[in-house]
Amino acid sequence: MHVMKFISLAVIVVMISVFAVAQNAPAQAQAPTVKHVPITNAPSNSGKEMFHSYCAVCHGTDGKGNGPAAPAMKTPPTDLTVLAKKNGGKYPADHVAAVIRGQAATPSHGSQDMPVWGPLFSSISQGREAQVQQRVTNLVKYIETLQAK
Ligand code: HEC
Repeated sequence: MHVMKFISLAVIVVMISVFAVAQNAPAQAQAPTVKHVPITNAPSNSGKEMFHSYCAVCHGTDGKGNGPAAPAMKTPPTDLTVLAKKNGGKYPADHVAAVIRGQAATPSHGSQDMPVWGPLFSSISQGREAQVQQRVTNLVKYIETLQAK
């Protein structure tokens, strides 16, 4: 089980660094080099810091989907500021939590485009479910604050 968690962590780290390389590559790129960046352990009590550490690379710091890795995505990262608007004015908190945990059936989830954060958070929280829950809850709350009026 520990081995499995370690593997999913490594895959996500490599993936994000590939996007970073793609983003910075000049037009006539030399062979891209994959830079391994250690995943940071952003504080579980700050939705904002976790969002900036884990989500902004694709979704943008403002959540609108314009992060530096966005151009490398097959499916553009969702504009997270209009989740309430698209849901009849009600912020779909349960859905967002399910997406983060990887329990919602969205086409790109678990594919290369959108990592499944559940196992990753479980790994950096050493499997402590209470802390994983805190991470998910605080991210969901932070994204709620980004909603367009
Ligand atoms: C590697 C890029 C990437 C990262 C990092 C990323 N996402 Fe996403 N996200 C996507 C893409 C691409 C989609 C669109 C997926 C689809 O339509 O299937 C998406 C979709 C979503 C959706 C909308 C799903 C729906 O049903 O409409 C939510 C919510 C979301 N991401 C939350 C997050 C959160 C929270 C984080 C950080 C913990 C995060 N994402 C990190 C790429 C990313």
